[in-house]
Amino acid sequence: MASAAPARTDDLLTRFRARRALTIDLATPLSDADATVQSMPDASPAKWHLAHTTWFFETFVLRDHVPGYEPFDAHFAYLFNSYYEAEGARHARPQRGMLTRPSLDRVRAYRAHVDAAVEAALPSLPAAAHNLIDLGCHHEAQHEELLLTDLLHLMSLNPTNPAVWPRTPQSTSEAATLGWVDGRSGLVEIGHNGTGFAFDCEGPRHRVHLTPHALADRLVTNGEWQDFVEAGGYRDAALWLSDGWAWVQANGIEAPLHWRDDWQQFGLDGLTRRDPAAPVAHISYYEADAYARWTGFRLPTESEWEAAAATVDPASGNQLDVAGPVRTLPADGSGLTQMFGDVWQWTASAFLPHPGFRAAEGAVGEYNGKFMSGQMVLKGASCATPRGTSRASYRNFFPPAARWQFTGLRLARDFE
Ligand SMILES: [Fe+2]
Repeated sequence: MASAAPARTDDLLTRFRARRALTIDLATPLSDADATVQSMPDASPAKWHLAHTTWFFETFVLRDHVPGYEPFDAHFAYLFNSYYEAEGARHARPQRGMLTRPSLDRVRAYRAHVDAAVEAALPSLPAAAHNLIDLGCHHEAQHEELLLTDLLHLMSLNPTNPAVWPRTPQSTSEAATLGWVDGRSGLVEIGHNGTGFAFDCEGPRHRVHLTPHALADRLVTNGEWQDFVEAGGYRDAALWLSDGWAWVQANGIEAPLHWRDDWQQFGLDGLTRRDPAAPVAHISYYEADAYARWTGFRLPTESEWEAAAATVDPASGNQLDVAGPVRTLPADGSGLTQMFGDVWQWTASAFLPHPGFRAAEGAVGEYNGKFMSGQMVLKGASCATPRGTSRASYRNFFPPAARWQFTGLRLARDFE
């Protein structure tokens, strides 16, 4: 939850009104069916994301801080609680796509009802509730990204390859030659510094010791990944972690998710030609790790990445600007590019508590802390991340086999 001082009421109201669970203008409006169907157990339907983010405000702000508030619908707490044990029993995640009722229209009515109630109550709410509204806005931004990536996965299963986001003209520059930028070494501080919003897992700020290393000045590209494929990278067990090799074997993995034959790929903008200079996306941690081993380099640790990103503008890069990862202008030789936007970057670090971490009291204490097992940290932001919600200290995390998000990698190397 928010670790900073309460936001000023007028700022908070402005941000609450400005938030939208789906910022982009879809090429074709979502049908009720599009918004209801679920493509796999990890994904959720668009309608569920809309309702769940609303439930978050209704529960933790209105129910807990507005005397006499009556829930919009008594069934919704069961349907739209995601994983909060403290909030009781809930609908099973893999079954979210079976919810043909309530309709998309009714979910939109639910959002309108809760939005109006929060706006009316906000000016007189205590600071604790303001922090929860702040948290709810950032929570909704996370779900906006998930809504898009879950929708992408759903559309990828449609043989007509529907585009949901208009194509945007892209740069035709060539990929820059890979360069290296010295990382910070010695004792450095990482973790959120307490200024502005952060999720609880981003703190406390603490010192870590970094040995001399360098970071690649850009992301790994589709063209470079094609070289890995053609060199037999997916068939060489020596490159893979044991769990990764078992995953490759069990699932017949031989390329990133959404790669199609003949240099085609599927994205939110439908079936397009794969750009060899654009960052590779939709790879698992296992693939990122194997690729790094193949090159003779390695993945950066979370601390190395975060220390390097401290002076980079977190609003830079392609964040909800273009429907997928795009090539960027060649580096001018002055430093790191593509730190934020395009794809989340797998790190070599497990998602574990920073020293001194304490989860928040109450149900929202379940937000991050209970997931600190079996997941890897990703840093940066992606082309599906709403601009304004990225930070160097932000800790995204997914299980090592996950690849339906926009995930890629940046290489690191040690100094001899
Ligand atoms: Fe959520």
